[in-house]
Amino acid sequence: MINEYVEIVNYYDNLLTSGYFNYDSLSNILYNLLGTRRKVLDIGIGTGLLTEKMLSLANYNIVGVDFSPRMLEIAKERLGNSDVRLICEDIIKFESKEKFEAIVSTGGVICVVEENGEYRICSHISDPEKNKQLLAKLHSQLDEGL
Ligand SMILES: C[S@@+](CC[C@H](N)C(=O)[O-])C[C@H]1O[C@@H](n2cnc3c(N)ncnc32)[C@H](O)[C@@H]1O
Repeated sequence: MINEYVEIVNYYDNLLTSGYFNYDSLSNILYNLLGTRRKVLDIGIGTGLLTEKMLSLANYNIVGVDFSPRMLEIAKERLGNSDVRLICEDIIKFESKEKFEAIVSTGGVICVVEENGEYRICSHISDPEKNKQLLAKLHSQLDEGL
């Protein structure tokens, strides 16, 4: 698989914080959605822009997976003083016995987009079958009953 997050990495933070994403708003929305859930898996954590904002709101226990080493390097610099665990791996291959209370993805591997009242799943993974398998795997990594 081609890792597209190579050249763009040098501009990524400037680009994304220049109005593409509003991380203050996103983190507040997540804060309200997550309620008391604290153990979170972020799929496609990127440079940790959202994670930084989330940690300013609550004491989350976050595991972040991303397959771009350079994106994770920046995330590591940004989140160095936190307990966030960063894992460099393709989410398709990611295996963990850990259970999570929530799985988040902001423009990450998968996102849900609302268009004319319909919800569509967008994904960095082009193969529909692999997406189905990924969703099933992610579901199995959620704590039962949540
Ligand atoms: C648009 S960025 C979003 C980053 C971050 N969530 C944010 O809000 O800024 C998408 C991220 O997903 C990662 N990604 C895409 N496909 C992936 C895969 N199959 N496995 C792991 N990470 C992936 C990319 O490397 C990139 O860092």
